[in-house]
Order: sequence, then structure tokens, then C-alpha cells
Amino acid sequence: MKAGVVGIGRALPDKVVTNADFEARGLETTDDWIVRRTGIRERHHLEPGDPAGALATEAAREAIEDAGIEASLLDHVIVTTITPDFVTPGLAPRVADDLGAGITGAVDLNGACAGFVYALDYAAALIEAERARTVLVVSCDILSRITDFEDRSTAVLFGDGAGAAVLMGGDFPVGVSKASLGSEYRADELYAPLGGCLTMNGRSVYTNAVDRMAEATRAVLEREGLTVDDLDLFVAHQANARILTATAQQLGVPEEKLVMNVDRVANTSSASIPLALRDAETEGRLQPGMKIGLAAFGAGYVWGANVIGW
Ligand code: ACO
Repeated sequence: MKAGVVGIGRALPDKVVTNADFEARGLETTDDWIVRRTGIRERHHLEPGDPAGALATEAAREAIEDAGIEASLLDHVIVTTITPDFVTPGLAPRVADDLGAGITGAVDLNGACAGFVYALDYAAALIEAERARTVLVVSCDILSRITDFEDRSTAVLFGDGAGAAVLMGGDFPVGVSKASLGSEYRADELYAPLGGCLTMNGRSVYTNAVDRMAEATRAVLEREGLTVDDLDLFVAHQANARILTATAQQLGVPEEKLVMNVDRVANTSSASIPLALRDAETEGRLQPGMKIGLAAFGAGYVWGANVIGW
């Protein structure tokens, strides 16, 4: 038996912040600079004080509906986030409660921008080891909470959002492959102190993100006996357009297989891959039988890649 993704969902806050809004607020930047260096045109921001938990639940509800199951079937809820509503409790118990899932395992995981790829691997492992039958993964990040809006080098890069996936066991041809995961402790390069904002060495993060996502993808493909040509789509962490294009080029993934929605949502940390998957589905780009490469990289550093079937 394999674990497979049977439903996905997403939720974005209503408030849209355009590049022009930053200029209007007096930040020393331009729409032209932001678009050329990052590909980002707009992002969504949660209103200060609004709970991340509600956004996470909205994405979860959509995924459950997409899967066509009742919340009571869930054996486990994993929420990935670096911006929970409280230090404790985490978001997962709230999501499980909001959904009316009953008594179910519910735990948060901090995998920064790579959280979704890590959580998919853990969820698939629970199912394949027969410790759970149905697992909900929700990735929810409210980066506007940890962004310094006076710092032009980071203020424009991030957005808020939530994406979710339901995994079940079954006779899937591909399912969710074993991930290639990695880490290297580099808090000097990319970090947010407790109660503080994100700081990063942009150039170093850029090159590490490209190299590690490409390396992890190659490792998974080799393990699965696949080549890049076997991938129908490539959905990588939407940090910025240049990182995505450079990673695809390093791997030899043609542009038409690259999924990109960073222009509309910016970098939403762990939510970015499920948000991009949901957008690809809405655009009719996800077809049954497809093999999709996923790759992510974030603060830690932590990174990972896997292949999922559709
Ligand atoms: N508007 C205008 N000018 C800016 C802005 C801005 N928003 N931000 C920086 N600049 C200026 C800098 O001050 C610098 O000016 P100077 O030459 O007078 O010193 C100039 O632009 C060039 O800055 P660099 O940092 O060298 O620009 P670079 O081409 O490296 O682009 C960027 C910066 C976009 C941050 C790039 O390094 C990058 O994409 N890094 C990846 C970081 C990332 O995506 N992190 C996300 C978190 S981690 C993750 O999700 C993987």
C-alpha cells in the first residue's frame, strides 16, 4: 500500500498589498525593482490580530471537501508553521477542533519554508506503516507578522497564506515518494529571533536554495528510477521567480513544466507549495497520472524534495 494525496485546499487573506502600496507608504523601492529581482507583483496580508488558525482551517476544509471525506475520518493533523497564534498551543489542535475531527493526533511542525515537504513525508510514513489511515497536512504561514516593513530588502518578499493536503492509503501508481531531506545549521544566514523579524543574507540564501533544491530533486529522481523528463510538472518553493527559474535550469526542467504563482502571492513559506499546487489544479494543469516534482528550501537551513503522483 502507498500513501497518496487525495485532496488539496488553500486559503488567502482578503487584503492584497501591491508593490505600488510599498512605494505609497514611503519605502525606498519601486515596482520595477521588485518585479525584476523577484517576479513578485502582489501578496496577501492577514489583518493584524486575525488568527492564523482560522486561515489554516479554511484551507483544511477545502482539502477535505476536495477529498470527499468527513473530518471524523482524520487520524492525524499536522500543521507546518513558523508563525503560530501562540507559542503554545499550536495551530493543529485548533484546526482539528474547528473541523470537528474528534479525538485525533494534532501537532505542529516547524520546517520553515520546507515544512510541507517534510510533513508530506511524515504523513506518508504514518500511513505506510499503518499507524494512520487518513492524515491532514496544513501549511500556514503569516510572514507579515515577522516582517520588518521598514527594511526594503525583506519587506517586499513575503506574503501570508495557507495550503492543505489530505493523504490516504491506496493502490496509487506513484503516491508520495520517500523524500530526500537535508539540513545544515546556518542561523547566521536566515533567522527570526523569538518575537522579532526575519533577517537574511539574500545572496547566500539564493545560491543555497537553488543548489539544495536541485540536489535533493536529483537524489529523489535517482532513488525512484526516474529522470527529469519523467516529471510532468515541477512545483518548488515560491521564494522568488529567479530562484525558481535557476533551479529549473540547473535540473533541465523546461519552462512549461515549472509552476509559478509567486507573482500573485509572494513567498508564503511552507504554504507556498500547496498554494501553487492548488493554483495549478485550478488552471487545469494537474491531470490524473501525472508525476510532480516538489522541492523546498528554508531557514535552518532545511530542505527537501519528493515526487508525488496525481
Ligand atoms: N527596492 C529597491 N532596492 C532594493 C530593495 C528593494 N526592495 N532591496 C534591496 N535593494 C537594493 C540593495 O540595498 C542594494 O543596493 P546597493 O547596491 O546600493 O547596496 C541593491 O538593491 C542590490 O541588492 P542585493 O541584495 O545585492 O540584490 P539581489 O540582486 O541579491 O536581490 C534579493 C535581492 C531579491 C533578496 C535576492 O538576493 C534574493 O532573491 N535572495 C533570496 C532570498 C529569498 O528569497 N529569501 C526568502 C526567504 S528564504 C526562502 O524562502 C528560501
